[in-house]
Amino acid sequence: MVEVIKTTGDMKARAALSRARGDTVGFVPTMGALHEGHLSLIRRARAENDVVIISIFVNPVQFDRNDDYRGYPRPLERDLAMAYEEGVDVAFVPDVEQVYPEGYSTFIEVRGSLTDVLCGASRPGHFRGVTTVVTKLFNIIRPDRAYFGQKDLQQAAIIKRLVRDLNMGVEVVTLPTVREADGLALSSRNRHLSGEQRRTAVSIHRALTRATELLISGEMDTAVIVCEVRGVLNEGGIARIDYVSVVDPETLEEVSEARPGAVVAVAAWVGDIRLIDNTALGVGPESQLFMHLNVETV
Ligand code: PAJ
Repeated sequence: MVEVIKTTGDMKARAALSRARGDTVGFVPTMGALHEGHLSLIRRARAENDVVIISIFVNPVQFDRNDDYRGYPRPLERDLAMAYEEGVDVAFVPDVEQVYPEGYSTFIEVRGSLTDVLCGASRPGHFRGVTTVVTKLFNIIRPDRAYFGQKDLQQAAIIKRLVRDLNMGVEVVTLPTVREADGLALSSRNRHLSGEQRRTAVSIHRALTRATELLISGEMDTAVIVCEVRGVLNEGGIARIDYVSVVDPETLEEVSEARPGAVVAVAAWVGDIRLIDNTALGVGPESQLFMHLNVETV
């Protein structure tokens, strides 16, 4: 079985023991309800480190809606069984009081252009919650490497900035988005989708595919691309769109001319479920544009 640790004190001691033995520690922070996306991070961590630690913690301070927090799936036994299958050594599963004991008052915030845009604009306070909990987890575990998915493009960019700005000395590894066979990006929230909503949700991937097709056919004007993407979403039955944006993947600044490497990012609602996805344009070996759909398993 995976060693389950519930207190910050025990987790600190366990991680310190690994370091004292000279073991490298790979860390995968999650909110549980594990799926193939999480497992791809765990597998990479397993391949690159002596010890693999995951955290399973539904972090209340990064939720902007109470119903989303309360309804977040928490299939702990199943998660632990999946973690075991992948060779995880330790699962840190603290409760809220462990992470935020009474009197807790410290928050870590990356400010400025990385957090003001995209999900930062539509979910105020969300990234402050993420950077606070990730800082705490890094302090407790002090991993050599930590693994994040490119599906949460903005989160990954913000964590990299956090680690750099605060000299955390953790190597941040980002990995491609894992998708369903029809292209829908795996997400713990997908399990809330009804059959019909599930069919609607796939139009997010369809819209991103349309964007990359346009770029390949020579369309460089991002205003045109954004308009087309919105059109595909609307046609597919998605009316409520938080953003469609073409950005630089590191600075997250909007670009007016689509260049190789630019990322098309979408956040949209299917019923009362908010889904995000993105896709990047790459440059092929002979400097040809090609569709980089961020696909690992199709
Ligand atoms: P969670 O949504 O559980 O995601 C944990 C990690 O899995 C994140 O790095 C996320 O980008 C990655 N992930 C999610 N779906 C993926 C997919 N389809 N393909 C590849 N990777 C995927 O992100 C969080 O939790 C939290 O904000 C957290 C960092 C744990 C802080 O609370």
